[in-house]
Amino acid sequence: MEKTFHITTFGCQMNEHDSEIMAGMLEARGLRRAPDRKSAQIEIINTCSVRDNADKRFFGTLGQLKRRKTQDPDFTVCVCGCMMQQQRVVDRIQEKYPWVDLVFGTNNLHRLPDLLDQVLTGHDKEIEIWQERSGIAEGLPAERMFRHKALVNITFGCNNFCTYCIVPYTRGREESRHPEEILKEIRQLAEDGVREVTLLGQNVNSYRGRFLDPATGEGVPGGGLDPGVCTFAQLIRLTAKIPGIERIRFMTSHPKDLSPALIQTFVDVPELCRNIHLPVQAGSDRILKRMNRHYDSGKYLRLVRDLRAAVPDITMSTDIIVGFPGETEEDLQATLDLVEKVGYDSAFTFLYSIRQGTPAAEYPDQVPDEVKHERFDRLVELVNRISAEKDAACEGKIYRILVDGPSKRDRKAMAGRTDGFKLVNFSVREEDLPEESPLRGRSPQEIADLLTGRFADVIITKGKTFSLEGRFLGLSEEA
Ligand code: 5AD
Ligand code: SF4
Repeated sequence: MEKTFHITTFGCQMNEHDSEIMAGMLEARGLRRAPDRKSAQIEIINTCSVRDNADKRFFGTLGQLKRRKTQDPDFTVCVCGCMMQQQRVVDRIQEKYPWVDLVFGTNNLHRLPDLLDQVLTGHDKEIEIWQERSGIAEGLPAERMFRHKALVNITFGCNNFCTYCIVPYTRGREESRHPEEILKEIRQLAEDGVREVTLLGQNVNSYRGRFLDPATGEGVPGGGLDPGVCTFAQLIRLTAKIPGIERIRFMTSHPKDLSPALIQTFVDVPELCRNIHLPVQAGSDRILKRMNRHYDSGKYLRLVRDLRAAVPDITMSTDIIVGFPGETEEDLQATLDLVEKVGYDSAFTFLYSIRQGTPAAEYPDQVPDEVKHERFDRLVELVNRISAEKDAACEGKIYRILVDGPSKRDRKAMAGRTDGFKLVNFSVREEDLPEESPLRGRSPQEIADLLTGRFADVIITKGKTFSLEGRFLGLSEEA
């Protein structure tokens, strides 16, 4: 009988996508995905090292698995992802959790099926961590979470060395995939019914992919400095030409590399969603310098102004860290002021968390926990107030939504996202449907099947802080 597996994923969308690739590789080898961890014979934990709480949750999860492993020695436990790229973590697993069967890192993800085979046939523990990527593994299958939308890696690693961040150490140096490889993958996805792609990288703006065949890049507008190199703006334009791709998103951008060419791309390319996640991290110039971010608040605000001048209805989100070493009350005030000035649709707020091995971990002026928490609460209150205002302003408007499926909160409602990435939960009411609507008289399940992956027009009835509520008006004109 084929074995079943389950993957628990911590962290960012890149980790989510790595998990999709792992699932794809295992299914290609004949393993089956289990509905939950309890019923799986193989548990894989894909870890994140960006902040301390993901770290703690990982060890907590391992603790829970120990009992199961003691009762059932055939139960296989694999751990992988960013945390494994740190020697201290691997040492701790060997010492305290010696029953873990397989340990591997981010650079040798593609080795999972073979390593797992070795574990399952030999019953030996395997530890394989590559310190460096040896080229980029192409053509790996992925088992996607959604049929109609997909994540696509365009760069791996990061060269920025923000002083608080562990990523450059765990994910290594930045490397761009060849544009032809990316476009081939997206063409295939479009053929499989994907309508929305999210281009992923730690800093997508610094994407510089070398054309395998310089002729492919000819005539691509967007101002590449080097004719053999594809810039991020060019890559978006090439992606938009692929038949079937109706929405393009990207994640994450670094303000220091956001080019005028990219801003122009928002204007010229209707497929590019009018939404940007632009992490600011702090509003104080002194703190931004200590964070090694290479911009100040003035430059950031100019970018926001230019983006809004080009795309007036663009939605914006950000990441903000509170309690970075040396942060004073004045510095926090500068962050609050910037948040107010920009008016983000949403913001991810983080308490600064010491990451061993990064420069900021060595800074002597760490902010006491209670001060951090008190500042954090003030920031969250402001961020939420602004989000609620932005969402309230959507009331009464009609949005075109790509439907993801039944709502997580209310199984009778459906959920999807606007072009601006706002989450909308909406009801489909018999009385709103025209006479001839194919949705009349259908069960919630049938409605879900008919609407998932389609574009729907939805009128917003209520703006909440983290989502919108609406009513289905009808299917949108499809391209
Ligand atoms: N402490 C708190 N937040 C962090 N981030 C990265 N490293 C840390 C850290 N040491 C946040 C940044 C980044 C997001 C993904 O995580 O805001 O943009
Ligand atoms: Fe970390 Fe900075 Fe790189 Fe983002 S840009 S992954 S915060 S080092």
